[in-house]
Amino acid sequence: MSEPWWKSAVVYQIYPRSFADANGDGVGDVAGIRARLDHLAWLGADAIWISPFFPSPMKDFGYDVSDYCGVDPLFGTLDDFDALLRDAHARDIRVLLDWVPNHTSDEHPWFQEARTARSSPRRDWYVWRDGGPERPPNNWRAAFGPPSAWTWEEKTEQWYLHLFLPEQPDLNWENPDVVAAMHDTLRFWLDRGVDGFRMDVVHCIGKDPALPNVPPERERIPTCALIDDPRTHAHLREIRRLIDAYPNDRVMVGEVAMPWIERMATYYGDGDELHLAFNFPHIWAPWQAAAWRRCIDQTTDALAPRDAWPTWVLSNHDNKRHRTRYGSEPRARAAAVALLGLRGTPFLYAGEELGLTDAEIPEHRIVDPGGRDGCRAPIPWDDTPGRGWGPDPWLPWPPANDAASAAAQRDDPGSTLHLYRALLAARRDSPALRLGDMEWLETPDDVLAWTRRHDGDVRAVAVNFAAAEQEVEIPGRWRIERTSDRRREGDAFDGRLDPEQAVLLTRDLP
Ligand code: GLC
Repeated sequence: MSEPWWKSAVVYQIYPRSFADANGDGVGDVAGIRARLDHLAWLGADAIWISPFFPSPMKDFGYDVSDYCGVDPLFGTLDDFDALLRDAHARDIRVLLDWVPNHTSDEHPWFQEARTARSSPRRDWYVWRDGGPERPPNNWRAAFGPPSAWTWEEKTEQWYLHLFLPEQPDLNWENPDVVAAMHDTLRFWLDRGVDGFRMDVVHCIGKDPALPNVPPERERIPTCALIDDPRTHAHLREIRRLIDAYPNDRVMVGEVAMPWIERMATYYGDGDELHLAFNFPHIWAPWQAAAWRRCIDQTTDALAPRDAWPTWVLSNHDNKRHRTRYGSEPRARAAAVALLGLRGTPFLYAGEELGLTDAEIPEHRIVDPGGRDGCRAPIPWDDTPGRGWGPDPWLPWPPANDAASAAAQRDDPGSTLHLYRALLAARRDSPALRLGDMEWLETPDDVLAWTRRHDGDVRAVAVNFAAAEQEVEIPGRWRIERTSDRRREGDAFDGRLDPEQAVLLTRDLP
C-alpha cells in the first residue's frame, strides 16, 4: 500500500494578511497568494495551509469567523479562491484551509441570533450560564483580553463563555445542530476541492458541561491550554469519518495547543481521529542539544505505540520566528537542516525560507490583542521601495528586508532561500528522508546526530549546537550532501563540524 501524500509532504503556512498584496491596499490577499505560487513551486513546497481568509470583523485577524463559507472582501472573492485552488493543483501544490471550530465571531449570525433572548432557537448554540454580574460561573481564564473567559450579557442576564476574546464566543458542541452545521462547513470546502484542514485549537471543542473550575495552581494558565475532554475524541472520530469519505487522502491537521506531548498524542486516536497533530514543545525548545533531544524522544515515545506520524514546526503566526528566538542566522539555518531531516511532516512558516527576523513593532503600531505582530510582518518580495507591496503595508517591515527579499536571495546561491530549496529537493529525492526510520548516533554533548533509513536508502544528519568546532564519529563512509552554511558540499565527511553547523550526509559507497 502506498503511503498517504501528507506523510512525505512539506507544508508551507501562509498568513494571508502578510504574504502577498495583489491589489496594493497594504493587506495581503488571495490573488496575491495565487500570483506567488511560482515561488512556492520553485521552492518545492508540496502543500500550503492558509490561515483564515473568511469573512471576519478581524478582532483576532480572521480567527473570529463570521461566515465559514466565504472569503472576506479584504482578501477577495470565492472566485479568487477557486482560481487559486486550480492554479495550485496545476503545480501539484495541495491546499489546506484553517477551520476554526471552537468559536465564531460575535458578529456571526448564529451568535447575533443567540444573544437576542434566552428563548432564541440558537441560544444553545453557545455556552451560557446563570449567575450574577459580580462573579463569573467559574475560574476559567481567556487567552487574550480580560482575564475571565466569561462575559456578562446585560440584556439577557447570563454569562457566555469565550476561551479567547469576548468577540470569540465558544460554540456549544454538545448541541447536535452545532455539530451538523460545522460538518456542513467542512463539506462546503471539501466539495470545492480543498485537500484538508488545519483545525484551530481543536482539542477545545468538547467540554464537560459541568464546566468545573481548574485547580488553583493552574488558574493563571489560559484555560484553552488545559482543556482535554473525552468528548472531543468522539467529535474527532465523526469528523474523521466525514473527511475519509472523500477521495484522495484529505487530511486533518489539528492544532492541539497543549504543552504535554503525551496528551497531544491521544488526539491521533487509534488511527481514527487526527491524521496529524501539531507538536509545539519543539517551538518552545531553546537552542540546546539536550532540549531538542528530549523533545524528539518524548514525541517518538508518545506516538510510536499509536503508529502515529509526527509533525515538526519551528515558526508560525503565534510565536516569535525561530531566527529571532535562536538569535543568529547560522543557528536558524542549522535548525532548518535538522527540521527537514527529522522523521515526520515539517511545517514551514512563510518567510522562514528567507531567514526573516521578527519586525520591531513600535507601540503605536501594535494591533494584535496577543502581541504577536512581530512574526506577522509582510514578506518582502523584491528590492523595489515597495518590496512588491502597496505603499503602506499593515505592519512594519522585518529588519534587513531589502537583502532578505525573495528576489535578492534567488540571485544568491548561498542564501537561506537556496538552502531551503536544496533541502526540500533532497527530501523529495530520498525515501529515507521522507519516510525512513530514525536512529540516534553516539555524539558529544553539544551534538545531535541520527540516521534515516528506508528500503536501502540511507541518510545521516548531524547538528552542532555549540559555538565551537566538534568532532563526530559516524560509522561508515559518508559524503556531505548539504550543509547549513553551504560549505564543503560534495566533499567526503571527515567527522568535523564547524560551529553551529548542521550537515546532511549521504552514504559514500566504496
Ligand atoms: C489558535 C491560532 C491563533 C488564534 C487562536 C484563537 O491558537 O493559531 O492565532 O488566535 O487559535 O482562534
